[in-house]
This record gives sequence, structure tokens and C-alpha cells, in this order.
Amino acid sequence: MSHTETLTPDARGVARAAELLAQGGLVAFPTETVYGLGADARNDAAVARIFEAKGRPRFNPLIVHLPDLDAARAIADFPPEAERLADAFWPGPLTLVLPLRAGAGISPLATAGLDTVAIRVPENPLARDLLRAFGGPVVGPSANPSGKVSPTEAGHVLEGLGGRIAAVLDGGRCPVGVESTIVGFDGAPTLLRPGGLPAEAIEACLGAPLAAHQGMTLNAPGQLSSHYAPGAGVRLEVTAPEADELWLGFGPGCAGAALNLSENGDLVEAAANLFHHLRALDAMAVEGQTIAVAPVPDHGLGRAINDRLRRAAAPRP
Ligand code: TXA
Ligand code: MG
Repeated sequence: MSHTETLTPDARGVARAAELLAQGGLVAFPTETVYGLGADARNDAAVARIFEAKGRPRFNPLIVHLPDLDAARAIADFPPEAERLADAFWPGPLTLVLPLRAGAGISPLATAGLDTVAIRVPENPLARDLLRAFGGPVVGPSANPSGKVSPTEAGHVLEGLGGRIAAVLDGGRCPVGVESTIVGFDGAPTLLRPGGLPAEAIEACLGAPLAAHQGMTLNAPGQLSSHYAPGAGVRLEVTAPEADELWLGFGPGCAGAALNLSENGDLVEAAANLFHHLRALDAMAVEGQTIAVAPVPDHGLGRAINDRLRRAAAPRP
């Protein structure tokens, strides 16, 4: 176990983070969605260390983070619909899965040997400063041990990965709170993972509905298996919790809830609180106690929230 540096959100912290990335180190950094675990996407050994640090059971393909659309064009080909979405929503919580350009230099471990690459241009100013300072593509899965709740604060990163990574750049709390929305272009534009950008906004931009992802091969990790899971058990759609359950409310009318995702039923606020509240309830839960979650409407950011909740409630391995 080595020491994990906590870096300050200023030019000095960013410069140190970029230096560590250039040395092949793992550096967690804030994005507007969740903290990412960064590594040089061109460095096979650095990318391999990500899987080792997270304890990922297999080599899922990772998202490559870049500072802007121009940098993205050097790595992937943009079909017209992808161009439109990038123009409208980058920087922001949207990931596009695109044909990988020959000679782009991305480690095959980062793409799991596929001929496509997932690309995201994050909006968080510290993330963009870091990407510019580093000057290359950075892979960044969420900075948590595999299968556990994603981190929305630097302290969460240290709880899960402290001693296993070189540093965390502390940018405070992530405002969106759930991972980016992923859209693929193998045929019609397809929603591969609901996330921080509502699918409705994407459909309005395209002027057409997104295709639904069929099958579960390369979709977000383990479609039906446990993921984003706290230690405590999770039960969903609960309007009347058992006396011994910890109730996670949504909206008004959840009197007696231990915590509420959003008292006034705001889905944006609920997404920002989701992982935070799951961690807090997990810390409160005594052995064998269950977290019971109130129903959350399945539109806008509610789709991403329900997706993560279903995985948190899925049977554990
Ligand atoms: O908000 C986010 O997207 C965060 C922050 C840190 O940027 N990152 C994140 O990364 O959630 P990760 O590794 O947890 O999720 C990457 C997802 C995986 O579910 C993977 O299956 C999918 O992207 N993915 C990556 N490359 C792909 C590809 N070529 N084809 C299909 N899916 C891909
Ligand atoms: Mg993750």
C-alpha cells in the first residue's frame, strides 16, 4: 500500500495530476457526473492498472475523456447524428460510442479490442484543465471498486481506492451525480445507458426516438447483475416500508424517511443525491437491515436513477 496524494483544485494540483498521469499513474479526477479514475489511454500498463485497482472481473471497455471535439475527431469518426449531438451537448454528460480511427493510438485494453471507442468531453472545469494540461486521451471509469457505489466526492474515492491509486484531485461534490448517458451509432442512434443527460433531450435534438439497446453484451457492466451496490440489501418501489427498514424517500409524502432524494420531487436534485444518500444509508444500516427506496418516476433523469437503483437491488454474486 502506498500513499494516495490529495491534490488541491488549483493550477498546482492540476499540474501534479498531469505529471502523475504522464508517468503512468492512476489519478482520480472530478467530472460533473461522478469522479473518474484517470489513466493515460495510450499506455497499456497504466490502463491495465485501472482494472487491477478497481478489481474489475473482466476487461470492460472504458470511456476516453478528451478536452474538446477537435481532439475527439483525431480518435474517432463522427457520423452526422454524432456530430449533431456533440455540437449540442459537449462539453457535458454525454458519451458517444463511435468507430475508432486507425492509428489513433488508444490502448486496445481501453477499447477491449473493439473497433469502436466511447468518447466523452466533460464539462467540469478542473477535468478540462487536467485534460488540456496532460495533452492526451484519458480513460476514466468511475473511481470506485468494481460493483460498488460510484463516488461523488473525493472522500468517497479515498474510502474505496485509497492506497491503490497515485492521487485524487479534489474538486468537491459532483453536481449531476449519475454517470453520463451513452449513445451508440451501430445503425440507428441507440441508447446504451441512461445517464446524466435525459434521453428526451437527445431525442429532441435528433428529431427522432433513440433505439432501445437489445441484448446485454457490451452494455453498461452486467445489465442484470449487481452493480452500484451498497453493502446493505436494497428493495425498490416501496411506499410503505417495514418498521426495521431504512426508507429512502422521493418527493413529499415520505414522512418518516431516513433520507429523501428530493423533498419536492425534483429529479435533477434526486440524481445529484442518489449515490451520496445510498452511501449514507449504508453507513447507518445495522447488520441485515434493508434500504427501502420509494418509487421514482421513469422519465428525464429518473431513467438513470431507476437504472442504477435496479442494479443496486439486483441479486449479489
Ligand atoms: O459519467 C461517466 O461516464 C463516468 C465519468 C467518470 O466520466 N465514467 C463512467 O465510465 O461511467 P465506466 O467505465 O464506468 O462506464 C463505461 C461504459 C461501460 O458500461 C462500457 O460497457 C461502455 O461504457 N463502453 C465503453 N466503450 C464501449 C464501446 N466501445 N462499445 C460499447 N460500450 C462501451
Ligand atoms: Mg462505474
